Amino acid sequence: MKRSKSEEEYVFATERFEDRKLVNILGRDVAFFNFGGDDIIAIDAHCYHKGGSLIEGDIEDIADRTCIVCPLHQYRIDLHTGECIAGGLGRYYSKGEKQRVHNIKICEDGIYIQKIDEIAEFDSDWYCDDTSELRKKRKRKMYY
Ligand code: FES
Repeated sequence: MKRSKSEEEYVFATERFEDRKLVNILGRDVAFFNFGGDDIIAIDAHCYHKGGSLIEGDIEDIADRTCIVCPLHQYRIDLHTGECIAGGLGRYYSKGEKQRVHNIKICEDGIYIQKIDEIAEFDSDWYCDDTSELRKKRKRKMYY
């Protein structure tokens, strides 16, 4: 059976799971968070700042946003938009979309993830997998 173009854009990622799960898909580490039912989010697993492991972060509601708190330097990343949320004492602001949030498709046999759009770049791309180590050394960026 020939698959339609939109089907080809997605690859199988994981079977259903509870809570959270780290999956390597086509060489890229992706963190999945399950909030119940079909409320599942997939983001790059390594923090855009300096590669902290977001799968180990705490989840907090900040300014009506569901954020993952990076265990390394406590940056807060909106799980729905990938924005870094800065500020405090009731005054928060976005530092922009830093972390790649992946499009997913939930099917009976599991969860599929959309292949990366090569044109759109996110800061978290620098830490997406182990093979980007050389690239990181050559062209190190600091993100704040
Ligand atoms: S590595 Fe995540 S906040 Fe620094």
